[in-house]
Amino acid sequence: MQEAQLIDVNYKIINNNTIIELLCKDTKFFNLYDKFDAYFYVDGPITIKNEIEQIAINNNTKIKRIETVKKKIKGKLKNILKIVCITPSDISKIKKGIERYPCYEHKIRFKQKYINYKKLSPLHLFEYSSEGEGWVTELNPSKKSIPLNFKCCAFDIETYTPTGLPKPIKEPVLMISYSTDKESKVISYKKSKHDYVETVKTENKMIETFCDKLNDLDIEVLYGYNSANFDLDYLNKRSQSTGAYFGIGRNESPPRINTLGRNTIAKIDGRIHIDLYPISQSLGRMGAIDAQRFRLQDVYKAVTGTKSITKELINKSDIWKVWDAETDDLELLFEYSLGDSVMTKLIGDKILPIEIEVSKASKTTLFDVTNASSSRLVENLLMYYSNLRNEIIPNIPSGSEIIARLHDQVQGAYVKMPKPGIYDNLVVFDFRSLYPSIIISHNVDPNTLNCTCCTDKEKHISPLSHKFCSKNKGLVPEVLEELISTRIKLKEKLKQTEKNSTEYNELYPRVQALKILANSFYGYLLYSRSRWYTREGGESITAWARYYIKQTIEKAEKNGFEVIYSDTDSTFLLMSNKTKNETLKLLGDINATLPSDMKLDLEGFYPRGLFVAKKTRKTGAKKKYALIDEAGNIKIRGFELVRRDWSNVAKKTQKEILTTILKEGDKDKALNIVKDVIKQIRKGDMDLNEFVIFNKIRKPINDYKILSPEVHAAKQLIEKGKEIHVGSLVGYIITDIKSKNISDKAVPYQYAKTYDIDYYVNKQVIPAVLKILEELGVEESELKGEGKQIGLNYFF
Ligand code: TTP
Ligand code: MN
Ligand code: MN
Repeated sequence: MQEAQLIDVNYKIINNNTIIELLCKDTKFFNLYDKFDAYFYVDGPITIKNEIEQIAINNNTKIKRIETVKKKIKGKLKNILKIVCITPSDISKIKKGIERYPCYEHKIRFKQKYINYKKLSPLHLFEYSSEGEGWVTELNPSKKSIPLNFKCCAFDIETYTPTGLPKPIKEPVLMISYSTDKESKVISYKKSKHDYVETVKTENKMIETFCDKLNDLDIEVLYGYNSANFDLDYLNKRSQSTGAYFGIGRNESPPRINTLGRNTIAKIDGRIHIDLYPISQSLGRMGAIDAQRFRLQDVYKAVTGTKSITKELINKSDIWKVWDAETDDLELLFEYSLGDSVMTKLIGDKILPIEIEVSKASKTTLFDVTNASSSRLVENLLMYYSNLRNEIIPNIPSGSEIIARLHDQVQGAYVKMPKPGIYDNLVVFDFRSLYPSIIISHNVDPNTLNCTCCTDKEKHISPLSHKFCSKNKGLVPEVLEELISTRIKLKEKLKQTEKNSTEYNELYPRVQALKILANSFYGYLLYSRSRWYTREGGESITAWARYYIKQTIEKAEKNGFEVIYSDTDSTFLLMSNKTKNETLKLLGDINATLPSDMKLDLEGFYPRGLFVAKKTRKTGAKKKYALIDEAGNIKIRGFELVRRDWSNVAKKTQKEILTTILKEGDKDKALNIVKDVIKQIRKGDMDLNEFVIFNKIRKPINDYKILSPEVHAAKQLIEKGKEIHVGSLVGYIITDIKSKNISDKAVPYQYAKTYDIDYYVNKQVIPAVLKILEELGVEESELKGEGKQIGLNYFF
């Protein structure tokens, strides 16, 4: 037997046979082929055999065989019929004729069915024997594992787009850049002094040279940034128009591009194409990438911590001009183009380990992981284990059922609003994997609900009185237990590695990836299209969560701690005169009362923390705080520090005073910083760059009824011959033009020569810092130097 890693699974119908094509890797990528029959189950009597065969004949196909098999349906073993067809598309035709009996597993993606049936795990090893040209004779999963190593390449194109709207039929691709571990190059048909530029004769030659490079370098993973929607699609269409051959696949086939709703998916044969743009956005939504915007340079900054240097070289809208003019700027354009691929490569190398972890953990191929929703991942994983447990996979609900589920909301988490203020010596406790650990310790699952094997006393009874079996472990808890135990091991290891070390940076995304996947189970149990929906289970999970966090709060208060803030599974306690040992003892005592699979973690000691008020000032704002830890690291949640629609001067000042307050605890110093900035603004000689405000144009300019500053600025740009369209970002400065209306004062930053002192003092700097300084008893008038001098020094 030989060994290989499973990379991807596809199928083809050849001569009325369904052939599985496995993309595998040993030292290189290669294909294996396997036969696999399409099948589904019918819970009906064997006497319908002839009827089923007749239905097949009526549909111009035939049944391979019908077997009686034993399968568990809702926990009970039952004899049912397995109908083996020829192709996956036969299934629905035959099912239609016998729908009066319950049918199962007729709507499962064929690829996933194969993976489950063969008990394979993507990106894991398997053993096989083969004959002929890769025909599998035997295939088994392997217990061994070896590290994964892919040959990765990022690419990017620049196009000739004078109107701002890409027109691949008419307008050429100018350059293709790529970046691998070994080399980074630009291919083009104009000459350059840079030796990383390879000049070929024509545009077509450039496209073909790029495809050849991928083969020569044996590229396995191809990264792009918005490449499904833009680069690959453009190259594809362009080639069709010019007659170039865009054979980017390993077998020289063009990419296969599919648009499903808002998502475009581009598949490349024999390689894994990863479009990093949608992945970055979804990691951003989950909080795993800290960026406000998702342009290439923003994500690059967020994942590497360094600013792009090449994006500044050229204005994107000027690329066509630079190309035509052929001045020295053309050299900058090559640099710019190369930079895009280099940045994409670095982003890809950071994101790939996360995707690999999710792929391995969710039994979903790497390519699918990069395109899948979290419910799809949970579903794949549950289907896999369902098959291992010989349980029938439940069906997708009907349309009316989906609607009913959508209208059935459950109560969420408990939040204790913070008292706004600045506090010294806080400790934060947070439950480890709270929802998953509740599911595991109370065996929450659609099929453990109201079991018949336990007495009421034996059952887990939720705060809402739903009852779950305590004897037979449900599918959902079993799967989660595997995931969580892996996560716990990695999380322990992470705690022992130094922050920002190489090992830490490798472990952290894996721990996060497992957290994201594990936390998707709760949502999946209540997801309207779920195969494993359980309203009772879902609402019990949040009910238990509320119960445990309230217990924690109660115990802390009983022991003399003041609870400042609590959200879902974390509590922020004021230590006052308590020692660390007393605090740890409290933690230990609470843990002793929890079920064995649950654990309250010490998240950290924080010498100082700041909670800001909501607009109403009655309570503090949820998820809005800043903490400083013992090592001096600042952790900011929910502050609008880096929104683009604030000027630099406002953003910088906010950050500076926050740091001063948390680090030095010095109110006067913070106050003086603000006063100094205001003084400088008033002097009138600050760098104009500090005052630029960026806003997006969200609809056609003429559709705007109200003239906002950005629209006013955009109109001026249009007058000067600039192109502005929906999505354009307009930067402007509020100047000292005399007018009652702020919009009239907005001038595009390229042309602005002055700034409005009062606007930047009163509408930018002061509002940005006021929320924070108010916690110190500072009032607006004091900041403006209007002489209010009440000595509110009681915080320090
Ligand atoms: P967290 O404390 O952020 O997550 P956690 O307890 O699962 O993991 P950790 O060990 O890192 O503390 O959130 C608490 C609960 O909130 C979590 O168990 C489930 C729920 N939650 C979601 O449902 N979706 C999410 O994306 C997150 C972050 C949390
Ligand atoms: Mn937690
Ligand atoms: Mn939490």
